[in-house]
Amino acid sequence: MRKPHGVDLNDLRDWIGLLKQEEDLVEIDIPVDEVHAIGPITRSAFKRNLPVLHFRNLLHSEASLLVNAFASRRRLALLLGTEEGHLVQEYIKRSDRNRWCLPQVAEKAPCKEKKNFHEAVDIRRFPQTVWNPCDGGPYFTMGMVRVRNPENGTANVSVNRLQVKDRNHLTIFTNKERGLGRAIWKYWERGEPAPVVVTFGGDPFYLLAAIDTPGPDEDEMALAGGIKGHPLEVAYGEICRDLDFPAGAEVVFEGVVHPESYADEGPFGEVNGYLSEQGVAPVMEIQAITHREDPVFSGTYAGIPPVETTVIQDLMIEATLTKTLLKSGVDVAQIHIVPGSGGHQAAISIRKRNESDLRRVIRFSMAVLPIKQVLVTDADVDVSIPEQRQWVLSTRFDPAKDIHLIPHAPAINIDPMAQELDGKKTVTKMVLDATRPEWAKGNPFIIAKSLVEQAEEFLNKYVPFAPRD
Ligand SMILES: Cc1cc2nc3c(=O)[nH]c(=O)nc-3n(C[C@H](O)[C@H](O)[C@H](O)COP(=O)(O)O)c2cc1C
Repeated sequence: MRKPHGVDLNDLRDWIGLLKQEEDLVEIDIPVDEVHAIGPITRSAFKRNLPVLHFRNLLHSEASLLVNAFASRRRLALLLGTEEGHLVQEYIKRSDRNRWCLPQVAEKAPCKEKKNFHEAVDIRRFPQTVWNPCDGGPYFTMGMVRVRNPENGTANVSVNRLQVKDRNHLTIFTNKERGLGRAIWKYWERGEPAPVVVTFGGDPFYLLAAIDTPGPDEDEMALAGGIKGHPLEVAYGEICRDLDFPAGAEVVFEGVVHPESYADEGPFGEVNGYLSEQGVAPVMEIQAITHREDPVFSGTYAGIPPVETTVIQDLMIEATLTKTLLKSGVDVAQIHIVPGSGGHQAAISIRKRNESDLRRVIRFSMAVLPIKQVLVTDADVDVSIPEQRQWVLSTRFDPAKDIHLIPHAPAINIDPMAQELDGKKTVTKMVLDATRPEWAKGNPFIIAKSLVEQAEEFLNKYVPFAPRD
């Protein structure tokens, strides 16, 4: 088992240091065009499983740019001080509500080393990238957007794509169903502008909490503290004095979203591999930018999954659904979101006691918004291995009895298969029950783990070749 790395991770620079130590980061000092070249390079580096890239000499920006920083389960396991095989369990443990803790105000806030207000604000000084040539313009893709819900005072944070409009405006892609969108529209209902802070970099655990969805009206800052194991150090805004964010953030945009202020947004090459249509989105007016000396900006590529976004979101879905099913009394062995499905396909192995276990799996997995197709198996199957999934579908599954269709189930808004029903996006969902019926013939056999380990040891010693493609 991987030993905890023992490094105190408080900001992106600590994370860069740890990645360097692991020889999982390459610094690129030749000039690179961040507008057009970064997207394809980031995509190819991810596909080839290359190290994190740190571009330190961008053509049009003083800041440097880090891409693919959390784009593999190996990196997420490193962040959580565990090994890949224990990643989900570790995340479940760390995100447990009993560990949540409120942040502390930092004595020093490096994110305020440089300050620019009003006329001096220009967001285009930071790496703005057209990630896919079909995108409607340059985007920031790793901004963490924080807004306080004026009704209950709880602040929300989420990662949202941000389209650069001009020197001091960007659009925020969200909708009324999301925590962020809900809060913005609440201000608008009152005829008030919504104060917003966008941060880049900073405490890596804040990023995980921003992507997780602990529930409506929960402040992910406390969750971030839980995942980290102690309170986050935060600063409050220069203009948005009521909003806190990691004091070690690299770059901070502060401003407001004025009531009913919309601008064109998109098209954008989405994480499901489809180009979103052009629409409109709320516009943020940036009134202040603060940043560290030599800021390290962050970005990520979206396109046909898997991409960095789905790598992180898949972990969140696995952890959330595992917790929900265990709570409902189902004895879950493993949950695996199939990479490349964009969070839409889950394979779940359970120790099934009766048919009500299956009904609960159907009910709770179908309630997870992105999940559309579920394969349910017995616990002897390693559902993370594609061949094992095919094996049970071929030998434990009767299409006449084992397909469960759920029509008109709620869909995510960017799903190309979604259809409107009563003003809501819906899709047909499906569960394939490949748990073994009692009447099936033959006895599945497995080889004891110790024998497999001995065989591996033998091969490593006497046949020391890298696996052939
Ligand atoms: C890189 C990245 C980009 C994302 N972009 C968006 C986005 O543009 N709009 C959106 O609604 N969710 C986006 N998400 C997902 C949200 O950040 C995530 O679902 C979050 O938990 C939503 O939180 P909320 O429901 O509290 O607002 C993105 C996630 C990642 C990792």
